[in-house]
Amino acid sequence: MIDHQHLPDWRMSRTMQWCCSPDQIDGPLVDGLARCWLEVANAGGAVGFPFPPVTSAQVSAATKRLVASLEPRGTRLFIACERTAIIGWPALEQNHSPLTCHWARIFRVQTALSVRGSGVGRALLAEAARAAREDLHLDQLHLELRSGEGLEGFSAACGWEEVGRWPAALRFGPGDDRDEVLMVLRLAPATGP
Ligand SMILES: CC(C)(COP(=O)(O)OP(=O)(O)OC[C@H]1O[C@@H](n2cnc3c(N)ncnc32)[C@H](O)[C@@H]1OP(=O)(O)O)[C@@H](O)C(=O)NCCC(=O)NCCS
Repeated sequence: MIDHQHLPDWRMSRTMQWCCSPDQIDGPLVDGLARCWLEVANAGGAVGFPFPPVTSAQVSAATKRLVASLEPRGTRLFIACERTAIIGWPALEQNHSPLTCHWARIFRVQTALSVRGSGVGRALLAEAARAAREDLHLDQLHLELRSGEGLEGFSAACGWEEVGRWPAALRFGPGDDRDEVLMVLRLAPATGP
């Protein structure tokens, strides 16, 4: 694990940490990530398991794959804890190509059901934006989300802007097509024509 970091205006029992390689994540932390992910997925959250319910074994395997993929120049996790419990996390994936390495993608943004509405989601996205700008020197963050669940409202409340949609790109079932919504957070002024 890396050093925990307290954010201003947070309860003293809440901490956040970046994890950029598998050796920063021990067994209990992997289990905590999976526990949070399982709860959020089975409550219908847009976190990569579109057809719940999912089993603990499925989520545990996905968590181990995600943790194994971490590397400082690739994918990293940002984890919020309350005492020893994980209460939320997103992942940030950088690009390697010189064509696209000025932006990164945020995915699996989630907060535990017990802390919803208390500012954890906003704090996670705020720290992701700070780190992207100040530590990684990126110009933009990208996020894709499903329409129909108010997630555009959450991202917009956190300063993100909708820049497009793939209409009805996501089919959750007969008669339940949703748009894939493309959101951007601009960290630097755009250049070029
Ligand atoms: C979306 C999610 C991460 C929000 O987390 P949270 O901890 O409840 O968010 P916060 O308490 O920090 O809320 C931040 C702001 O977003 C708003 N917000 C949160 N969820 C919202 C929603 N579903 N629709 C509209 N606005 C929402 C809040 O009102 C708040 O705005 P305000 O401060 O101006 O009132 C959480 O509901 C979640 O994990 N959902 C399931 C997973 C998911 O769908 N992830 C995809 C995210 S793009």
